[in-house]
Amino acid sequence: MTDSLTIRRPDDWHVHLRDGAMLAGVAEYTARQFARAIVMPNLSPPVTTTDAARAYRERILAAVPDGLSFEPLMTAYLTDSTDPADLARGKAEGVLTAAKLYPANATTNSAHGVTDIAHLAPVFAAMEEAGLLLCIHGEVTTSDIDVFDREAVFIERHLSRIVRDFPGLKVVLEHITTSEGVAFVEAAGPNVAGTITPQHLHINRNAMLVGGIRPHAYCLPVAKREEHRLALRKAATSGSGKFFLGTDSAPHARHDKESACGCAGIFNAPFALESYVTVFDEEDALDRFEQFASLAGPAFYGLPVNEETVTLRRGDAAVPETIEAGGTAVVPFHAGETLSWRLVA
Ligand code: DOR
Ligand code: ZN
Repeated sequence: MTDSLTIRRPDDWHVHLRDGAMLAGVAEYTARQFARAIVMPNLSPPVTTTDAARAYRERILAAVPDGLSFEPLMTAYLTDSTDPADLARGKAEGVLTAAKLYPANATTNSAHGVTDIAHLAPVFAAMEEAGLLLCIHGEVTTSDIDVFDREAVFIERHLSRIVRDFPGLKVVLEHITTSEGVAFVEAAGPNVAGTITPQHLHINRNAMLVGGIRPHAYCLPVAKREEHRLALRKAATSGSGKFFLGTDSAPHARHDKESACGCAGIFNAPFALESYVTVFDEEDALDRFEQFASLAGPAFYGLPVNEETVTLRRGDAAVPETIEAGGTAVVPFHAGETLSWRLVA
């Protein structure tokens, strides 16, 4: 039995770090676990331009405690009025790594998202030309589509076209939650990849709805049926370069989640690696954890792998019921549980 695992330091290819007091409270959790992270731009107001991304990057760096090395990789939030030239400039100046497509009203702070994806053609063309990646929240938002079908319908209606029409564009289908998402990424060319969160590897929709409604298991895309969770576990642990780590850690104050209209988002940053490695252990795939956590992402993004290493050891990691951040209590993923792996260095 493997009791200790040393791998290159991982990166998080999808995280919400927020701003202000919450940023100051949560940045260290991500910076302790990861060397780099793709930082989501869904602030209020969103980060829509190169200048705004540059300023946000400075605020993130100021929030990382001394002694931790962490590189935020910035994204711009696409809107109906995104300027393609600004995105190209952001890439050329080393500010932007990717742009993020939120269909309007798909999730938290996405009201300014894109209302008609077809109108983004000039933006996608400029990104393809500039080598700027496209990160996609892949859910349709039309009221006729059941919330559990939103990802599969998005793939059919939109993603397949984007990938067909812009073959040189690198596309990440983020936080995939369905077997359809897995199948699409597998079948697509090498310019298409998917990230997978720890929660979608651990829970299915029962965790949210059985025995009472459990707001801390609610995120978007919402967890699906068990068959989908199993497909995600298979994809994550397959050793394929097309699936890599993206936590989608998304802190919200406890009172905003435990509410009549609770916010979507799971705060998993404090024990993200412990959570993921538990899955790889359960799937007898510890030898493929480094590929998922530390190698596949940099290869897809065209970035160097990290030189430092981290070590995980078998042993108890007790997850607290709440964590204070930004002057408020936040409930972490696995709250009150004891995970069987610890990050030791
Ligand atoms: O659950 C989610 N929370 N999904 C998202 O796409 C956004 C995120 C957030 O910002 O809270
Ligand atoms: Zn997200």
